[in-house]
Amino acid sequence: KIEAIIYDLDGVITDTAEYHFLAWKTLADELHIPFDRAFNEQLKGLSRIDSLNLILEQGSKSYTEKEKEQLAAKKNEHYQTLIRKISPDDLLPGVEAFMKEVKQAGIKTGLASASKNAQTVIQKLEITDLLDTVVDAAEVKRGKPDPEVFLTAAEQLGANPDNCIGIEDARSGVAAIKSAGMFAVGIGDRETLSRADWIIEDSSLLSLSLLKQKYD
Ligand code: BG6
Ligand code: MG
Repeated sequence: KIEAIIYDLDGVITDTAEYHFLAWKTLADELHIPFDRAFNEQLKGLSRIDSLNLILEQGSKSYTEKEKEQLAAKKNEHYQTLIRKISPDDLLPGVEAFMKEVKQAGIKTGLASASKNAQTVIQKLEITDLLDTVVDAAEVKRGKPDPEVFLTAAEQLGANPDNCIGIEDARSGVAAIKSAGMFAVGIGDRETLSRADWIIEDSSLLSLSLLKQKYD
């Protein structure tokens, strides 16, 4: 029995993964640190500061904690400029229909995001009503791949993790779902998401009936 479906936000519900990439790219260019899409793959799902540390390791300079804080804030400014115009039109294909179908089927829904901007983004997307709980970076101590964010969402929903499904676009996110003891749906690249129980190429292929078949 599926008790709850817990969604990642960035790259699953809307394409803010692209905005995170662009914002990091701007910062890396300013610092003259090499940065491309292949490298960005491993940042997906990681907290802002964990991502920054990985990027800075690619350069030759060392930075104080204070400088790192300022750089993280700068990236966030770039990011917030990019998300300013987000609207319901930015929901990825098939996502809204799927989320509605899940709710109508009586399955609880949650969000498990590593982003401190998660509340802003879901408000702009106008999907607050489709989520029974929202857990974001502000609420958890350990970021993905630690399972804490998914386990916290399950707990808030009163659902047994064994009966939950997590949906992710990031390798670290799939790892978090699996460590939580949940069924993992991966959206994106088959190799990157190889640990997922069901992998689909893009969100338009989300289907509750197909998911039930895979889950059983
Ligand atoms: C995750 C993204 O959802 O949130 C990461 O996949 C991002 O790319 C992380 O670094 C933290 O986001 P924010 O908005 O708190 O900087
Ligand atoms: Mg994601």
